[in-house]
Amino acid sequence: MHEFKYVNSQLYCEKVRIEDLAKKFGTPLYVYSYHTLIGHFIKLEKAFAKIKPLICYSVKANSNIAILKALVDKGAGLDIVSGGELFRALRAGCPPEKIVYASVGKTEKEIEEAIRRGILFFNIESISELELINKISCRLGEKSRVAIRINPDVEPKTHHYITTGKLTNKFGIDFDTARIIFLAQNDFPHLDICGVHIHIGSQITESAPFIAAIKKVVNFIAELRKKGIALKYLNIGGGLGIIYDKETPQTAEEFSKKILPLLKNTGLKIIMEPGRFIAGNSGILVTKVLFVKKTPLKRFIIIDAGMNDLIRPSLYGAYHEILPLRTTNHEPRTTNRYDIVGPICESGDFLAKDREMPKVREGDYLAIMSAGAYGFSMSSNYNSRCRAEEVLVVKDRVFAIRKRESCRDLVRNESIPPFLLGL
Ligand code: LLP
Repeated sequence: MHEFKYVNSQLYCEKVRIEDLAKKFGTPLYVYSYHTLIGHFIKLEKAFAKIKPLICYSVKANSNIAILKALVDKGAGLDIVSGGELFRALRAGCPPEKIVYASVGKTEKEIEEAIRRGILFFNIESISELELINKISCRLGEKSRVAIRINPDVEPKTHHYITTGKLTNKFGIDFDTARIIFLAQNDFPHLDICGVHIHIGSQITESAPFIAAIKKVVNFIAELRKKGIALKYLNIGGGLGIIYDKETPQTAEEFSKKILPLLKNTGLKIIMEPGRFIAGNSGILVTKVLFVKKTPLKRFIIIDAGMNDLIRPSLYGAYHEILPLRTTNHEPRTTNRYDIVGPICESGDFLAKDREMPKVREGDYLAIMSAGAYGFSMSSNYNSRCRAEEVLVVKDRVFAIRKRESCRDLVRNESIPPFLLGL
């Protein structure tokens, strides 16, 4: 479900013609549909209404503070992984008691700030981290809530770069070590070890890996209960896959039908951390065709968006549908196969390979679909390219939610040492 549709052969976002946005704001341009974003959050909320989980949107998927505020206003909590994301979460007005904090490498400064702000809990990824949070909490005279992130060792059947719940991954703690921690919780007097967390990977389209992981932790929690250790929270992470191409991911409804029976009788407050499911299909990247180039072996469409704007195809070989903003229904449709590439000086700079496309002319606009998650948030300034503008569409209204960067922004934090200036 999304609100990007053709009307009279022109692509619209909600009630706004996207070509008008491209002309007004320039390209590359991220365009988000408010109602698609909120719609996905509400779908999940409804599917799990029986257990009223705290849905902590995963900030890393798309961390623009307008996106965060839109979700927080609907009751979302936030899943963060850094001091920067904590800052954004608070800027967006998220109540601290709805913030959960994961990451294998939290620094002392980040931990201290999160404790001072009173977040709901930390998801702990190692014994050293547990000891550090205990020490900092002692210094601050606080008792901090923590959940142990378990690595359940299940295969999520996704790209190996975004698999996180196998024992060969850096994430979480194995069951045996977790058991030792729970049994030794008195050694951590400044911690309230009150939950368990799992997150097994991202873009997972089947329910079997979730079921396997949840079963394992639910059994573990039952075992702890028998030993007199009662928990309060179970955080089942994120990872729900979406449609980029021909995937047939489970819907929120199907997902809940499969896992609600496992969660219902735990008596625990359930937390979820979806990122892509909420933001993925609610954003597109609009780009202009600079040149169409034919070499003896190939055809290239050279666009003004590159791997610095959307790195997923280069990094994971990910597929994103690419649509023209205007379709040419009236002309006979001839198609050709093209590599759709950016301006960056690397052969890895492509948005699509060998893609069948209708005839495209220089100056045309294209939409790279499903770019709302891990699009702008993974963008960079490589090749000294200014990062794109972001706009949010709400029916027929348009809001600029991040200005295009300027060349001044690029060098803002740089300085030339006096000796190089002859001083
Ligand atoms: N919770 C934790 C602890 C996570 O590490 C992540 C994502 C999420 C929740 C949200 O996962 P989601 O629901 O969005 O799948 N850059 C990659 C995805 C990396 C995911 C990292 N962790 C991509 O573009 O596919």
